[in-house]
Amino acid sequence: MKDTLIESIIQKEKERQDNHIELIASENFVSKDVLKATGSILTNKYAEGYPGKRYYDGCEYIDQIEQIAIDRLKKLFKVKFANVQPHSGSQANAAAIAALIKPGERILGLSLDSGGHLTHGYKINFSGTFYESSTYEVNSDGFIDYEKVLEKAKKFKPNLIICGFSAYSRIVDFKKFKEIADAVGAKLLADIAHISGLVAVGLHPSPVEYADAITSTTHKTLRGARGGIIMTNNEETAKMIDRWIFPGMQGGPLMHSIAGKAVAFREALQPEFQDYINNVVNNSRIFAEAFKKRKVKIISDGTDNHLFTIDVKKSYGLTGKEASILLQKNNITVNKNTIPFDTESPFVTSGIRVGTAAMTTKGFTGDDFKTLAKIIHKVLKNDDNVSIDVYNLLSKYKQNDE
Ligand SMILES: Cc1ncc(COP(=O)(O)O)c(C=O)c1O
Repeated sequence: MKDTLIESIIQKEKERQDNHIELIASENFVSKDVLKATGSILTNKYAEGYPGKRYYDGCEYIDQIEQIAIDRLKKLFKVKFANVQPHSGSQANAAAIAALIKPGERILGLSLDSGGHLTHGYKINFSGTFYESSTYEVNSDGFIDYEKVLEKAKKFKPNLIICGFSAYSRIVDFKKFKEIADAVGAKLLADIAHISGLVAVGLHPSPVEYADAITSTTHKTLRGARGGIIMTNNEETAKMIDRWIFPGMQGGPLMHSIAGKAVAFREALQPEFQDYINNVVNNSRIFAEAFKKRKVKIISDGTDNHLFTIDVKKSYGLTGKEASILLQKNNITVNKNTIPFDTESPFVTSGIRVGTAAMTTKGFTGDDFKTLAKIIHKVLKNDDNVSIDVYNLLSKYKQNDE
């Protein structure tokens, strides 16, 4: 690279990724093939429109790539219609919401501190600005109380209910959400950004039968290039989704990202991906149990998926911010996260969220996660003499690649 400044910073970031234990639940390490497609010459091409209907010429190969991505995605989630163009999970949600309801209509989503996402109706987001929004919450045990959601829906009368979350460690009952949506005449959007890898292999129930539209990111448990997707079984909804992605929300699709998504969808269709996700979920359970054994408070007391949130205030007398800084000093990367009914601001928080998808990709086993829980417990109890333990744990999985 001629730009040695950027190159040297990329190299430093690579070293950071190699030398830290990565527990941010929304991150992962993509394969070399995904990386190759994402860094390819496809970034040079403009392709506004869809396969066979482009506003620019020279799209004969671009069309093939996008169609392969669509076909693989449809096969992976057993859906009839798919759009692979959203630049991110947020843009997927913006287009799906616009396809399902009109500006000014009502959205009901899980509150941010209960584990919801900004795009599910948060006031400072487009979803809480261009739509009228309200929230449902988890109960004091950290679980979704479907009776309460129904009660709230009856009062608020939403046009759209959003389910599928950013920090919820339990199975989402999409059938119950559909019953609630039907009871109040609302549409249902399932945002499986976090759990899409689990849904793809059947380790989490699929919303396909129940939701009017399904959105996801492609870079979390699905382990693909960064971006978003939207799926539906309804032809009319599919037309609206396509229209709202382009020309509604976006211009030209990021074809290098779409190629990276296509490669990842193929990988996710292989039996090895099933094994990978099995390991992610088993490791998550083992990791949570190892904390519980030490009397650490976990929201909802455990996990069914790849992540969970630790109440560090109750367990260690620390804010999420303090805990994440302490861990970062010891080469362990987590994100501070609000806990249900948090009294701290989202910049401070009382919790940290941890996930096992990224380190399972690096090869971490259940025993490694048990060791890691011990190390984190030591750090948060302010015994920061753990650097050799972190080094030992990581050095087993050092990659010899570029
Ligand atoms: C549930 C959920 N939806 C949407 C998004 C947004 O994805 P992106 O960051 O790609 O816009 C996220 C990202 O964290 C998420 O957790």
